[in-house]
Amino acid sequence: MGKYVIAGNWKMNKTPAEATALIEAIKPLVKDAACDVVVGVPFIDIPAALEATKGSNIGVAAQNCYWEKSGAFTGEISADMLREMGVKYVILGHSERRTYFGDTDATVAKRVRGAIDAGLTAILCVGEYLEQREQGITAEICAMQTKIALEGVSEEELKQIIIAYEPVWAIGTGKTATAEQANEVCAQIRDVIAGLYNQAAADAVTIQYGGSMNAGNAAQLLAMSDVDGGLIGGASLKAEDFATIVAAAK
Ligand code: PGA
Repeated sequence: MGKYVIAGNWKMNKTPAEATALIEAIKPLVKDAACDVVVGVPFIDIPAALEATKGSNIGVAAQNCYWEKSGAFTGEISADMLREMGVKYVILGHSERRTYFGDTDATVAKRVRGAIDAGLTAILCVGEYLEQREQGITAEICAMQTKIALEGVSEEELKQIIIAYEPVWAIGTGKTATAEQANEVCAQIRDVIAGLYNQAAADAVTIQYGGSMNAGNAAQLLAMSDVDGGLIGGASLKAEDFATIVAAAK
């Protein structure tokens, strides 16, 4: 895995046929990417996405997974199931999961453990609500979310973690954090990693920014010292826009 990772988070968008079409459109545009490229698709689109990305430089991510390997958990999907299919990444702890579906720091930590044990790379999302930023507790919130999610994760296992800093107020709102705001928090999260592990581990970990990153603002955000990529929602649904962001990640 390279340091720079641009991942699309398609959320609940695209049918399998539409997923194939979008990936076919993205593929030629990103084939010479200098970064790792990932598409995070709905569970039902995974077979189509794996087929469409076969032999390409695009990895496939799921948008969640359950922590148990199997059992009486109606409606859930395990990390082992994803892994067996050929999925390499899983987005965990996205703010929409936390806000609408009851994910907590504790259950995100269990999902991270399940993903690591299955051999997946977890894209761990952390970020503050607007009120928390206004209270001046952004650093504490992100540190707490990061520490709880990484509880029990060894330095070796940290290689299976990407952190996505996503201020909740910037997600889907068109209100992007400034490059300075994004960089400040990404650097704070890196310091947290240095405290939990060591500086070398912190320097090696990929920390993405997410929240209304688009073709127009990506270059500025990705040029910052502590921003190692992006988790892209809306703009990842348009092949040209997504490719422009990928091209900005060097
Ligand atoms: P957005 O979503 O780019 O549409 O703001 C980002 C995300 O939720 O990961």
